[in-house]
Amino acid sequence: MDFFRPASTALLLLFIFSDQALLKSVLGAVGVNYGLNGDNLPVPSEVVELYGRCGIDILRVFEPNHSVLDALKGRRNLVVWLGTRNEDIQGFAADQLAANSWVNANVVPYYKSVNIAYITVGNEVVPDDAAAPFVAKAIKNIMQALVIAGVKSDIKVTTVVPMSVMAVSYTPSAGAFSTTAIGPLKDITQVLGTSGAPLLLNAYPYFAYASNPQQISLDYALFKSTAPVVVDGNLKYFNLFDAMVDSFYSALEKIGAEGVRIDISETGWPSKGNDPFTSVDNAATYNKKFVEHVRSGAGTPKRPNVKYDGVLFEMFNEDLKTAGVEQNFGMFYPNMHPVYPLWNC
Ligand SMILES: *[C@@H]1O[C@H](CO)[C@@H](O)[C@H](O)[C@H]1NC(C)=O
Repeated sequence: MDFFRPASTALLLLFIFSDQALLKSVLGAVGVNYGLNGDNLPVPSEVVELYGRCGIDILRVFEPNHSVLDALKGRRNLVVWLGTRNEDIQGFAADQLAANSWVNANVVPYYKSVNIAYITVGNEVVPDDAAAPFVAKAIKNIMQALVIAGVKSDIKVTTVVPMSVMAVSYTPSAGAFSTTAIGPLKDITQVLGTSGAPLLLNAYPYFAYASNPQQISLDYALFKSTAPVVVDGNLKYFNLFDAMVDSFYSALEKIGAEGVRIDISETGWPSKGNDPFTSVDNAATYNKKFVEHVRSGAGTPKRPNVKYDGVLFEMFNEDLKTAGVEQNFGMFYPNMHPVYPLWNC
């Protein structure tokens, strides 16, 4: 009778936690990263208000900034992915007490009124950051800290990796991780395989296209191809995003982690800084098509109908980032006027 247990447990949870469980379990939601690297950005309460007005489902924040968390209080219809600083990871891994104090400072006072779905332990630490070998243990210790603190919530603890963990990403079925990434990713996916948390992927067709425009067509990168561009075995690829995600799934399979699901923590297209590849039109097209793609629930050719959440990069143009494309991923100017219409606000 084990066969029936997952369904009835899910029903029971749905019944007990009603709308909260619904919000967190319905994948196919779209969010936007909220970066703070600007000296002219609106105050967090205005930003949170803007997310709400625009109907954005998820807000991802890179650090546990208390002004931001305070502004999110009481807005449980906005799902939050909350990051830890990369610099804190080795401490969390070495010392349970460090993980406990992070949870006590940044989760305990907030989780009842802020809808924290994921805690992301670091951003793009694997493959190159010195803390890469410590991410898996840090995730475990943050999970343990949530238990110790008695946090009654289904917060999932995970991490964010970039496509630079890949050694091979073409064809999608040939996808494989680099030798430096394999060790840390085996440890991390073992933890996630047990907890059921997804792994989060930053994937930018823009960078792949801009570095190789002779071989990659703009239509393929912008979700505009009407015929398959890559045929890989019996799978047909109409867009570069799906091909990148499926190469990542192939690489997961090769390390025995085929059971780990992924969500997209960053993707996007800059509106200027590298013309003609960057333009307002290209950015608007990519982001609009991405939103439709995620909300359609179509999954990818390798994982058809497997829904996932996707978070765009990013809310504002940030003037304290490196000049050029890095300053121009925003969907809004710091004065909250849209760079291009994407949201109904
Ligand atoms: C948190 O964010 C606010 C608003 O952007 C900013 O003024 C403040 O300096 C940030 N705090 C920290 C500790 O970074």
